[in-house]
Amino acid sequence: MGFVILLLLTFTTLPLSSSDPNDEACLTQLSQTLKDPLNNLQNWTKSTFANPCSGFTSYLPGATCNNGRIYKLSLTNLSLQGSISPFLSNCTNLQSLDLSSNSISGPIPQDLQYLVNLAVLNLSSNRLEGEIPQQLALCAYLNVIDLHDNLLTGQIPQELGLLARLSAFDVSNNKLSGPIPASLGNRSGNLPRFNATSFGGNKDLYGYPLPPMKSKGLSVLAIVGIGLGSGLASLVISFTGVCIWLKITEEKMAAAEEGKIGQFMPDY
Ligand SMILES: *[C@@H]1O[C@H](CO)[C@@H](O)[C@H](O)[C@H]1NC(C)=O
Ligand SMILES: *[C@@H]1O[C@H](CO)[C@@H](O)[C@H](O)[C@H]1NC(C)=O
Ligand SMILES: *[C@@H]1O[C@H](CO)[C@@H](O)[C@H](O)[C@H]1NC(C)=O
Ligand SMILES: *[C@@H]1O[C@H](CO)[C@@H](O)[C@H](O)[C@H]1NC(C)=O
Ligand SMILES: *[C@@H]1O[C@H](CO)[C@@H](O)[C@H](O)[C@H]1NC(C)=O
Ligand SMILES: *[C@@H]1O[C@H](CO)[C@@H](O)[C@H](O)[C@H]1NC(C)=O
Repeated sequence: MGFVILLLLTFTTLPLSSSDPNDEACLTQLSQTLKDPLNNLQNWTKSTFANPCSGFTSYLPGATCNNGRIYKLSLTNLSLQGSISPFLSNCTNLQSLDLSSNSISGPIPQDLQYLVNLAVLNLSSNRLEGEIPQQLALCAYLNVIDLHDNLLTGQIPQELGLLARLSAFDVSNNKLSGPIPASLGNRSGNLPRFNATSFGGNKDLYGYPLPPMKSKGLSVLAIVGIGLGSGLASLVISFTGVCIWLKITEEKMAAAEEGKIGQFMPDY
């Protein structure tokens, strides 16, 4: 923490248009772990990473600069694959990270916790795996956490409920499990509240504000119902069958008996 603050102090005192070794490390590493099969990332080359900004102008499509530092990265719907480099945390002035609607896999790096200015984190509609890092709770300015439509597992860290500025939170359509922390599902005071839309589409996630009867419970009930019902039906059918068979045999025997009796009956 102290190290990051020291870095920030060091670089805020540097002249505006000089290259920043942290941003350069961040962009270089990110371009190595992300795969760009359609070659959508024009100008994402070593020479640009060394000097991605000139004051407020960015030479990198998808990047926005502020005072010579990258402060926004928006690479959405570009068919990107690969994974998110933990060294993304070297872009220490980053306020907005939007990598939504790609095919990025692998984990959400815990190191994103060092992005102390981060306000927007949108990683929705990718193939991200693993758990949601609880360390994201250290990014105190986070307004938006959108992780919907991924393959995330484990529980939702209750620490994220500590983020007082959080106004958008969406983890729907993942593989999350366990209880929804009350710090997110039932926020107190005048903190923005999140409804069932934020949590739906996770098979093993439960608790308020999701509806009390899980779909899994319902289907189990339905299966039991169908089983009992068809069991009962087949019982009734076979019982009726046996009854009919018995009745027919009885009648046949009665008829046979009558015939026999008839045989032995003397003619009058
Ligand atoms: C980038 O981040 C790593 C790990 O957080 C750190 O070791 C390194 O000093 C940072 N800066 C550069 C320029 O690599
Ligand atoms: C690519 O970067 C160079 C500087 O490295 C810049 O002159 C050029 O305008 C950039 N191209 C685009 C499309 O941003
Ligand atoms: C995503 O990109 C594809 C092709 O590049 C385009 O057809 C589609 O409209 C884009 N979707 C959005 C939501 O921008
Ligand atoms: C995140 O990105 C997706 C797709 O680009 C967009 O539809 C969604 O509104 C964004 N989330 C937030 C909270 O802005
Ligand atoms: C939500 O929290 C309030 C107290 O802040 C509590 O009275 C209420 O029972 C909680 N609701 C649920 C569904 O847990
Ligand atoms: C849930 O909240 C969102 C805004 O955050 C709203 O658009 C949506 O209609 C709400 N859904 C329900 C079922 O209340």
